[in-house]
Amino acid sequence: MSRLKEIMVPFITRQQIKKHVMTLAKQIEADYEGLPLVLICPLKGSVLFLADLMRYITLPLEIDFVHLVFRGSTQIVKDITTNVDGKHVLIVEEIIDSGRKLSFLKKRLMASGPKSVKIVTLIDKPARREIPLNPDYVGVTVEDRFLIGYGLDSEELGRNYPDIYILNN
Ligand code: IMP
Ligand code: MG
Repeated sequence: MSRLKEIMVPFITRQQIKKHVMTLAKQIEADYEGLPLVLICPLKGSVLFLADLMRYITLPLEIDFVHLVFRGSTQIVKDITTNVDGKHVLIVEEIIDSGRKLSFLKKRLMASGPKSVKIVTLIDKPARREIPLNPDYVGVTVEDRFLIGYGLDSEELGRNYPDIYILNN
């Protein structure tokens, strides 16, 4: 058994995740009322959430990926290639913690002339916020806990687990 498996406790099951994803997709569809939408997925943790969410949204959709890292300041490892000028943009994030990453990304996207930029997150940890940032759609609000699974990693491991666990260190 791996070290991770010894210290992880079940937290959100795949069935619960699916319900949250479907609820969020319905809210998004209702709000955009048939308008085209660009989903922006920050790598890597959000890939499972993006893949699940997008198949429940029946709007005309484009997707793109961005990879940001924090090395003293936020840096772009991979930028989007989509022109978002005049388009509705929705950032699809799996978890918001300090708010640093998405605050940077939202400002940067706003500078490209989109019609709107909103944020959907599967999980929000508002108690950890260092920069004010209010997601427009939230699946689950949780306390200050470190989670793995469903895209969330501990030193790059655990992203492939279909359920979400609390990591007890
Ligand atoms: P922040 O909001 O800028 O602090 O960054 C949020 C990012 O930190 C997420 O996209 C995750 O990659 C990572 N992160 C935050 N909380 C957790 C967690 O509980 N487990 C695993 N990764 C996390
Ligand atoms: Mg991570």
